[in-house]
Amino acid sequence: MGDRSDRVEERKRARTRCPVHELIARRWSPVAFREEPVEPEKLCSLLEAARWAPSSYNEQPWRFLVAARHDDPESHRRLVECLMDVNRRWAARAPVLILTIAKMRFSHAPERVNRHAFHDVGLATAQLTLQATALGLYVHQMAGFSPQQARERFAIPEGYEPVAVLAVGYRDDPARADLPPDLKERDMAPRERKALEEIAFQGRFGEPLRLPP
Ligand SMILES: Cc1cc2nc3c(=O)[nH]c(=O)nc-3n(C[C@H](O)[C@H](O)[C@H](O)COP(=O)(O)O)c2cc1C
Repeated sequence: MGDRSDRVEERKRARTRCPVHELIARRWSPVAFREEPVEPEKLCSLLEAARWAPSSYNEQPWRFLVAARHDDPESHRRLVECLMDVNRRWAARAPVLILTIAKMRFSHAPERVNRHAFHDVGLATAQLTLQATALGLYVHQMAGFSPQQARERFAIPEGYEPVAVLAVGYRDDPARADLPPDLKERDMAPRERKALEEIAFQGRFGEPLRLPP
């Protein structure tokens, strides 16, 4: 995408006190997606990366409902309709949408709620996302959708909870993308994070962990 796009990547890069892996530094959540399809082999790699995540009791509570526009436009359209307006206005362009779903009880002990089901779906999603980065793809996760509509439209059974919708695809140049100005600005803005002192503690909650300067 050229020089201007490289500048976007540079601005989006994670600024860290200590080094992190390149894939972590480079990952971010764009709103400007190209409509170009994702290759089936790459989609397969994303799902394999998710499948090999660790999970509590190796329960693997994650399920993925994949809607690729080029392959199954009807499912893609139905999942777009589950999104909140604020997300639909950009995510409808993404060639692949994935609904993540959590199995809420243990298979070996169905009377027990799996308190880590959402945690493990998030972990699998993180692996999927980093695999996407390694393949030149981008993932933008969304909580802004109707779980009830998703349940009805995709026949999600009781005991399973819709968790998030992931927009997956190749990134577009925000300056050229057919998007409202506020969304273009969002893709150009630097990424923000809390300081390590606010999130890493030692001794008692709130007491910052001692770290190299
Ligand atoms: C579980 C989850 C839900 C999210 N929901 C939305 C959403 O509904 N709409 C949206 O635009 N971004 C959503 N995001 C993206 C976050 O806003 C984004 O990850 C955060 O601002 C950090 O930016 P970065 O991913 O580029 O580092 C969500 C992210 C996660 C992990």
